[in-house]
Amino acid sequence: MSANGPRIIAVSSGKGGVGKTNFTANLALFYASLNKKVLILDADLGLSNIDVLFGIAPKYNLKHVLLGEKKIKDIIVTGPLGITILPASSGIRELTKLTDGHRLKLVSELDDFDMAFDVFLIDTGAGISDNVLFFCSAAQETIVVVTPEPTSIADAYALIKVLSRDFGEKNLRIMINTARSEKEAFDTFRKLAIVADKFLNLSIDYLGFLPFEPHVKDAIIAQKGYIAMYPNSAFTKKLAHIGKKLLDNPLNEVKGTIQFFLKKALRVG
Ligand SMILES: Nc1ncnc2c1ncn2[C@@H]1O[C@H](COP(=O)(O)OP(=O)(O)O)[C@@H](O)[C@H]1O
Ligand SMILES: [Mg+2]
Repeated sequence: MSANGPRIIAVSSGKGGVGKTNFTANLALFYASLNKKVLILDADLGLSNIDVLFGIAPKYNLKHVLLGEKKIKDIIVTGPLGITILPASSGIRELTKLTDGHRLKLVSELDDFDMAFDVFLIDTGAGISDNVLFFCSAAQETIVVVTPEPTSIADAYALIKVLSRDFGEKNLRIMINTARSEKEAFDTFRKLAIVADKFLNLSIDYLGFLPFEPHVKDAIIAQKGYIAMYPNSAFTKKLAHIGKKLLDNPLNEVKGTIQFFLKKALRVG
């Protein structure tokens, strides 16, 4: 673990299908290729999840831990380059109905799990449901993935608004996905930045963009990350740039350990 503790980064979006999971998986591969120990919490309820991209099939998930049937060490799976995945897309909805007994169980489970990771990425799912908001507000920083479509921009704004107004988030990063040019990406960012400044008095940060890359789908079929299959592509170079920028310039103070994060985000702390 780095001297500054783990980096805990939530990847979110207003609208589904904008590329959160693809970005999270490839960012994880990039960090793993730098010999960082990476943990991904897969909390996206979307169709094509981290496990599909990595070609792994977790047998159990957070739900089994909540039901007391499994321990966290039994549900985690290892992906390419030793990336650890905590499958949580099933079980997240149940978190609102936990009894005190369940809560205590989850706390002791979390305390027992060895969390010596350098980078912790959370694929939160889309929208402004409580789960998404709790993950984002508990993380050190949140990346909002946006595409140039007007609906994606409008939904990203809705998410940013709730995070800043109701959760006091001051530092949000914007990653533009499937942009056809640097200009289109920056224009998209600017549309958001202008309304965030005007109506929320919030300054958002431009993390960068990933181009539209038709071969991203091939990587999913081959069940590898795109950057592993196409190491010299423009997409891979942009992703590496974003990954380094994130590592070198944390936006917020380290908020604590992964256990602390999980208890806060899962509301069992
Ligand atoms: N930069 C990109 N270029 C081309 N296709 C992309 C790109 N990013 C994501 N996709 C595709 O868009 C679809 C949605 O991506 P996904 O990561 O599953 O979105 P989300 O997790 O936000 O729902 C997938 O089919 C994925 O392969
Ligand atoms: Mg997804």
